[in-house]
Amino acid sequence: MKSTGLKELWLLGLLGVSTANPVISGLTSDKPGSSNNALTCNDPPVTLSLSDPPYNNYFYSDCNVAAQAVVTSPLPSSNLSIISPRLIVAWPAGDSGVCAFFEPQNGANGSLAIELVNSTVGEPLAPLYHRESGSKNPSVGVKGVLHFNSSATLTVPILGSIRAIRDFTEGGSILRPEFQDSIQFNSLPGRGASLQRTWLDNVTFTALNFTPMSGCDGVTVDNGKLKFDAGKYEFSAELNYPQLTQLNSSEVLNSSSQGLIQQQSDNTKALTFLSYSEKLLAGAWRFLTYFGRDSMIAALLLDPVLSYGPGGSMEAVIGAVLERVNRDDGSVCHEEVIGDYATWTNMQENKTSTAMSCDYKMVDTEFFLPVLMQRYFVDNKVGRNRCPAFLNTSAGSINPANKNLTWRQLATTNAERVLRLANPFVQMQIKDNLIHLKKDQPVGNWRDSTYGLGAGRIPFDVNTSLMPAALRSVAALARAGVYTHELDWGRLADEYAQVWEDKTLQFFEIQISQETAVQRVAEYAKTIDFAGPNQADSIDRDVNFYALALDSPNMNHNFLPKVQVMHTDDCFRHFLLNTTNQSQLTSFINQTASNIRRTFPAGLMTDAGMIVANPAFGDEPVHARNFTNGAYHGTVIWSWPLSMMAKGLEKQLDRCVEKSGSEAVPEFCHDTFVHDNLKKAYNVLWDSIEANTKQLGNEVWSWTYRDGKFNPTPLGILPAPPGSGGQTESNIRQLWSLTFLAVRRNEAFK
Ligand SMILES: *[C@@H]1O[C@H](CO)[C@@H](O)[C@H](O)[C@H]1NC(C)=O
Ligand SMILES: *[C@@H]1O[C@H](CO)[C@@H](O)[C@H](O)[C@H]1NC(C)=O
Ligand SMILES: *[C@@H]1O[C@H](CO)[C@@H](O)[C@H](O)[C@H]1NC(C)=O
Ligand SMILES: *[C@@H]1O[C@H](CO)[C@@H](O)[C@H](O)[C@H]1NC(C)=O
Ligand SMILES: *[C@@H]1O[C@H](CO)[C@@H](O)[C@H](O)[C@H]1NC(C)=O
Ligand SMILES: *[C@@H]1O[C@H](CO)[C@@H](O)[C@H](O)[C@H]1NC(C)=O
Ligand SMILES: *[C@@H]1O[C@H](CO)[C@@H](O)[C@H](O)[C@H]1NC(C)=O
Ligand SMILES: *[C@@H]1O[C@H](CO)[C@@H](O)[C@H](O)[C@H]1NC(C)=O
Ligand SMILES: *[C@@H]1O[C@H](CO)[C@@H](O)[C@H](O)[C@H]1NC(C)=O
Ligand SMILES: *[C@@H]1O[C@H](CO)[C@@H](O)[C@H](O)[C@H]1NC(C)=O
Ligand SMILES: *[C@@H]1O[C@H](CO)[C@@H](O)[C@H](O)[C@H]1NC(C)=O
Ligand SMILES: *[C@@H]1O[C@H](CO)[C@@H](O)[C@H](O)[C@H]1NC(C)=O
Repeated sequence: MKSTGLKELWLLGLLGVSTANPVISGLTSDKPGSSNNALTCNDPPVTLSLSDPPYNNYFYSDCNVAAQAVVTSPLPSSNLSIISPRLIVAWPAGDSGVCAFFEPQNGANGSLAIELVNSTVGEPLAPLYHRESGSKNPSVGVKGVLHFNSSATLTVPILGSIRAIRDFTEGGSILRPEFQDSIQFNSLPGRGASLQRTWLDNVTFTALNFTPMSGCDGVTVDNGKLKFDAGKYEFSAELNYPQLTQLNSSEVLNSSSQGLIQQQSDNTKALTFLSYSEKLLAGAWRFLTYFGRDSMIAALLLDPVLSYGPGGSMEAVIGAVLERVNRDDGSVCHEEVIGDYATWTNMQENKTSTAMSCDYKMVDTEFFLPVLMQRYFVDNKVGRNRCPAFLNTSAGSINPANKNLTWRQLATTNAERVLRLANPFVQMQIKDNLIHLKKDQPVGNWRDSTYGLGAGRIPFDVNTSLMPAALRSVAALARAGVYTHELDWGRLADEYAQVWEDKTLQFFEIQISQETAVQRVAEYAKTIDFAGPNQADSIDRDVNFYALALDSPNMNHNFLPKVQVMHTDDCFRHFLLNTTNQSQLTSFINQTASNIRRTFPAGLMTDAGMIVANPAFGDEPVHARNFTNGAYHGTVIWSWPLSMMAKGLEKQLDRCVEKSGSEAVPEFCHDTFVHDNLKKAYNVLWDSIEANTKQLGNEVWSWTYRDGKFNPTPLGILPAPPGSGGQTESNIRQLWSLTFLAVRRNEAFK
């Protein structure tokens, strides 16, 4: 009953806005206080248009609404079974979105093109705001003009959660009846049409509306499908869910970094779009919500430019993580489930609740928390002063599961977990005592796609880098009195850290003789039909690297003790640790440097950037088939490893600079070959970063070999490896891809 009544009111509201009333876009003329008017914003709206064909992205945010529109239109070169015309509007609020797929009405795939055009409605987007008497929250969204160059059918609409959209686009076309069956198709006056849906919470509405502009016959509702005549349509997308509180660019950045607002305006706008006082978001459009690992890696790299203190971006990150710590075991939330998808998830457990929940399946995320807390609460004066008040914050205002606890108690539970997990390996250094992925989970670290770890169960990064770094930080935090415990965790955690620093690398060591390496690289280049030179002649010595993971059952159910895939996860150890076992440190640095300097397929470098995985040296053909340049964690380029590797190599180089009062420099500094190798790798990496500035804000990108070089190519247009579900398209902007705002080349090491 109740929902029907509200729906009618809702529809009336839609009719009001679809008549292109100029007052609606002229928000500044609105008087505050009147019920249908938006707040008058102090700051001008933040808008950003970013093109990455076949994707065009448009961001709009002001103090009333933040939204992103993505328009996909096939190019002549597009693979038409992957790329079809599509409109998405996504809101950080509730991780919400609407999505519409189109097909040509008459004609083959590829014959329909769609685009957003500038008009008096918006350039290309304008904000929408109206308030219904039955609704607690105003309806907010964006509108603009969409052009269809020929007649079109809307084939698949999805309204509600971005997670539901991703289930369709990445999860093998999953459409859930709980979401799909409640979509209503309505005609609008003036030959328009509207799709509307009430969320499973029974109070939130999402709508996507189309009204033809002049010279266009309009849209008809035909048997549950919308049929569009060619031409221009005013569209609007809106929802009445509470919006987050965006931090403006001055608020996100440290007072000494305000110059970036002018110098790197697109990157600071993107950072602003992802920054809210409640949390920082991982990426646009697919991850417009909390992700623990993403926000902490981003904060560690962005630290020098982030704002500190109450209401700053650093505290937004740390607070969001602590709020979501698992009170029972101290593990850290990977991804939150909020909005419509939270209600749906609760329904699956027979619960009627809209409460958020968390995914705790990762095994790496808990280790980033102490490291980031140390940076702020121990290493920095502002953070040290803030620590008592900040950590006494009561949890539970966002995550009801943590009611009755303080953030300090949750931080302590997390530290207990780190120590508990570390202990068995300290007692006995055997493989069984290393950190494994959780039982029944195929993923557990940042390479969280089906074949990201080559089916390995014991990831390199977690064991050789994240655990010891977390232990060092637990020690520092304990000494600073941050935790609520009585025992001497400072001494204990440092002792544990030493064991994890010194005794883990050897489990992952791989050495391949020059002869075998040359042969495997040549063979691999043939297997993948690589169009460029195989670079085998650059292998002038034995090749050393560290396994991406241990313990992989492969397709023939043969057990592989090591996943022999070269990778960039070395960057964690370089960035997070000052290890002291000299011979181990020297050879570790040496092999990273050599592997970065060699060109794919003989190493990690390409003209399009450093790839995160190279399966050329493995003796298992299964890895070559899975780690492709169409795989999310295959032979592709991610922005943040470029940044963390650059910063990590810089930190190691910096250890060689004699400083008064500090300890003796490490031995590798006096090995002319190794030191020179490191310096060259640092510069080769920076040259490649500088040659790819256009890509750096993207989440991930791939390459195609043409005209004698590796050309940057969107991942989403390349076929995914068989058996991995759908293709993953890259986010146009990703929080942890904006770290070059803070990470710069150190000219002293040129
Ligand atoms: C950001 O907001 C503050 C108020 O919190 C205001 O003083 C400042 O002018 C705003 N800066 C920008 C760039 O909008
Ligand atoms: C046409 O596009 C649809 C997606 O809109 C896709 O499912 C279908 O496979 C495509 N057909 C061909 C022949 O590529
Ligand atoms: C619409 O655009 C597509 C893609 O560019 C093109 O193939 C097609 O011919 C165009 N249709 C019309 C009617 O212009
Ligand atoms: C649309 O308007 C915006 C803002 O004025 C402008 O930056 C953009 O270039 C315009 N786009 C087109 C396709 O004209
Ligand atoms: C929404 O309404 C339906 C039907 O009345 C009810 O079964 C359901 O529990 C309600 N959901 C929530 C989250 O209140
Ligand atoms: C700005 O960053 C510096 C370190 O780069 C830090 O010492 C300072 O406290 C920060 N200032 C603010 C206002 O956050
Ligand atoms: C939910 O209820 C259904 C029907 O009673 C039952 O089959 C199912 O096992 C329950 N699911 C959970 C997670 O409890
Ligand atoms: C918090 O404490 C109250 C009162 O003691 C209790 O009713 C409630 O269940 C507690 N909440 C949680 C999540 O433990
Ligand atoms: C990818 O690896 C899995 C096992 O890890 C295997 O079952 C599958 O067949 C592989 N796919 C290809 C295309 O080789
Ligand atoms: C590594 O050593 C440098 C120089 O002494 C120091 O500034 C830095 O904080 C140390 N890093 C870690 C992770 O201990
Ligand atoms: C460094 O690497 C080079 C080339 O692979 C090798 O010849 C040399 O022995 C290595 N040095 C050390 C100390 O590991
Ligand atoms: C197009 O994509 C499909 C589905 O991923 C794939 O099977 C096919 O090989 C691709 N075609 C080309 C020419 O790459």
